[in-house]
Amino acid sequence: MSAFKDNFLWGGATAANQFEGAWDVDGKGPSVPDMCTNGTVDSPKRITTSIKENTLYPSHEAIDFYHRYEEDIALFAEMGFKTFRMSINWTRIFPTGEEDTPNEKGLEFYDRVFDCLQKHNIEPLVTISHYELPYALVEKYNGWASRKLVALFETYCHVIFERYKDKVTYWLTFNEINSSVMPMGAVLNAGTVQGFEGRVTEVPDNKQERFQALHHMFLASAKVVKYAHDHYPNFVMGNMSLFATSYPLTPAPEDIVANQQNMNMHNWFCSDVQVRGAYPFYAKRYFEEHGIKLDIHEGDLDILKAGTVDLYTFSYYMSNCITVKEGVETAGGNLLGGYANPYLKASDWGWQIDPVGLRYSLNEIYARYGLPIMVVENGLGAYDTVEADGSIHDDYRIDYLRSHIEQMEEAVKDGVDLIGYTPWGCIDLVSASTGEMAKRYGFIYVNKFDDGTGDLSRQRKDSFYWYQKVIETNGEVR
Ligand code: BG6
Repeated sequence: MSAFKDNFLWGGATAANQFEGAWDVDGKGPSVPDMCTNGTVDSPKRITTSIKENTLYPSHEAIDFYHRYEEDIALFAEMGFKTFRMSINWTRIFPTGEEDTPNEKGLEFYDRVFDCLQKHNIEPLVTISHYELPYALVEKYNGWASRKLVALFETYCHVIFERYKDKVTYWLTFNEINSSVMPMGAVLNAGTVQGFEGRVTEVPDNKQERFQALHHMFLASAKVVKYAHDHYPNFVMGNMSLFATSYPLTPAPEDIVANQQNMNMHNWFCSDVQVRGAYPFYAKRYFEEHGIKLDIHEGDLDILKAGTVDLYTFSYYMSNCITVKEGVETAGGNLLGGYANPYLKASDWGWQIDPVGLRYSLNEIYARYGLPIMVVENGLGAYDTVEADGSIHDDYRIDYLRSHIEQMEEAVKDGVDLIGYTPWGCIDLVSASTGEMAKRYGFIYVNKFDDGTGDLSRQRKDSFYWYQKVIETNGEVR
């Protein structure tokens, strides 16, 4: 018998900028990813300050969910999805982030999507901001470096809460908010890239600015969580963290401490604020040693305390090792690099595959916070081959997902209150880190390629039928 709850939320996850396309349709304004070109694993994508001619911007068409949502949602329903994670693109609602009235056409689009999900009995799980800051706010304010954005975000949230209050229950404030602890977060999340043009990996790093931006994002998140609790008591409000478990490379006590510090600042720092409602004790020394002086206004700490989340959600793809030794082989990863683990194999993009690490992480998270948990991203980015008869045999993806679901089940048996699982990129979409289409995660193949060609047709992969069975049997993976 399955260890998963009867009403376990099986589903899949996406983000507006990576799959909607229609980047300037029906009044939508440009968001940060609309200014990003494509790249590859060896050649990072670039951000530009204006749209350049003869340059490919993968988010502009993406996989055109905007015009194909009915077909796509029908495919999700065919797999048996109970939930679907998607984001609302802020610039569909407020094209520059600062309009007095929202863009009705943008609101109507999400009405249509939510209605279609409802028709198929699929519960929406909505990320309010998934790496989709209005670019106008970068140009004018240097993104979240400015406190002005807190009020703008609140206005955006008040509008979407009121509009969709009868259609959406589960909300996540910021996708992978802790990405802003790392330099790439300046582009992805914080938007502190005013005037910068170049490789996204080469944004001049400014820790002070990133952490100040994070403080503003914490405030914004806490304020809208509190607002939702006060006005919409049925809403379930969640955080969303990138969880990249790390292990000490050796049992040397110095490695143990280095790993503890890495776990603290990269994996726990943001959720400690969002779940516990206060800056954690270890941040003080980190801030002092890195010359970070936060501008915290009177009342800010009370706001953080009042707006703690109800649900902990996270992405999990890989793990890494930490050591103080020099000259050790490094490994790639989801924004966070580290050192290679001799016991693990890596994906084609160098992310080390570690299903047992998911069980370990779930236990660590639950022990720390005791909140219900959802794994809202997990999956294998891989090259797929379409056979002459149109079939796609992605057994490598099935193996990856199977081993992670098995470990989730172990965690549930351990006593973790896990309530849902939405593997990433349930339909092929644009990669966030490299802008590629070739890095595919989907159960559904999309005929779209890195040079922008493709007829956008959809096709079921072997994993589609496999996942359908997993859902049907509430977690039977064999
Ligand atoms: C997470 C993001 O970091 O990982 C997603 O929330 C992203 O937006 C996913 O797509 C996978 O990363 P990538 O770089 O392979 O697309």
